[in-house]
Amino acid sequence: MGESAVPLASGPSDPSGSTGEALLSVRGLTKHFGTNVAVDDVSFDIARGGSLAIVGESGSGKTTIAKMVVGLLAPTSGTITTCGHDRSTPARGAAERRRRGAEVQIVFQDPYSSLDPRQSGASAIDEVLALHRGGSSADRALRVAELGDLVGLDDRQLRALPKALSGGQRQRVAIARALAAEPQLLILDESVAALDVSIQAQVLNLLADVRADTGVSYLLISHDLAVVRQITDDVIVMHRGVVVERGATRDVLDHPQAAYTRLLRASVPTPGWRPRRRSEWTDAPDLSDVSDVSAG
Ligand SMILES: Nc1ncnc2c1ncn2[C@@H]1O[C@H](COP(=O)(O)OP(=O)(O)OP(=O)(O)O)[C@@H](O)[C@H]1O
Ligand SMILES: [Mg+2]
Repeated sequence: MGESAVPLASGPSDPSGSTGEALLSVRGLTKHFGTNVAVDDVSFDIARGGSLAIVGESGSGKTTIAKMVVGLLAPTSGTITTCGHDRSTPARGAAERRRRGAEVQIVFQDPYSSLDPRQSGASAIDEVLALHRGGSSADRALRVAELGDLVGLDDRQLRALPKALSGGQRQRVAIARALAAEPQLLILDESVAALDVSIQAQVLNLLADVRADTGVSYLLISHDLAVVRQITDDVIVMHRGVVVERGATRDVLDHPQAAYTRLLRASVPTPGWRPRRRSEWTDAPDLSDVSDVSAG
């Protein structure tokens, strides 16, 4: 369906109208893997300081979008603009790469695979500071401690190797490292999914605080609609590479218009939920059966 020309206005103060220059602007973004169309003509905006969630079942194209926005994957077609700079084609040279890194950073689900096992958090953060900020090693050490403070890591934890840290602590290192580049946009791809509930709550509170303190914008990918509700102002719902619904998070989650969004919401366990056998299902067919996903 023709989704491409509709910008998603975001920003807490103006959920419906346009808010001047977008921090991130994505238009007609498409990615083919061979014959598989993973992302099909997706468009959205994130305002400065805004936050957008991408939700949708496994394989709907969420991570592929994130990787294109951060620059780990080249789009088949479409444009990605941050702060007015195009980033849909490969960076030319180190300076351009550095500038792009200062605009967008990403934190993945599993910090263990994205952190170097031989490098302490302090050293990983320092490396990013040296690249993006420069300054003396004493200045940088001060900043490492500040960032540690921001994400709740003490000196001992900062000096430890990843294997000596808990999952939540490793994710804090990954977040601090991403923030060291002082990005305008932080992409969080299932970044709290692997954490147990209490640690998850801590990291979510941390993210809310960081946003309030620094004005960073978030692009949050999560299958957890409670997390989406807590962190984001706006949401897009993806199904098979296509945006099937978009709007203010509260509206979309409370009053979903698209059949697919209703199914997605119905498939999320809530308190009192008990698993049912497939033969008991009357109201919620398998999500993969949904072929008519018109947003009306
Ligand atoms: N590097 C790749 N090569 C080929 N196909 C890929 C590649 N990466 C992703 N795909 C395919 O693109 C589609 C979208 O994948 P993607 O990882 O974006 O889904 P997702 O929405 O992030 O799913 P999940 O919720 O499971 O993380 C899938 O069909 C996947 O198999
Ligand atoms: Mg993914």
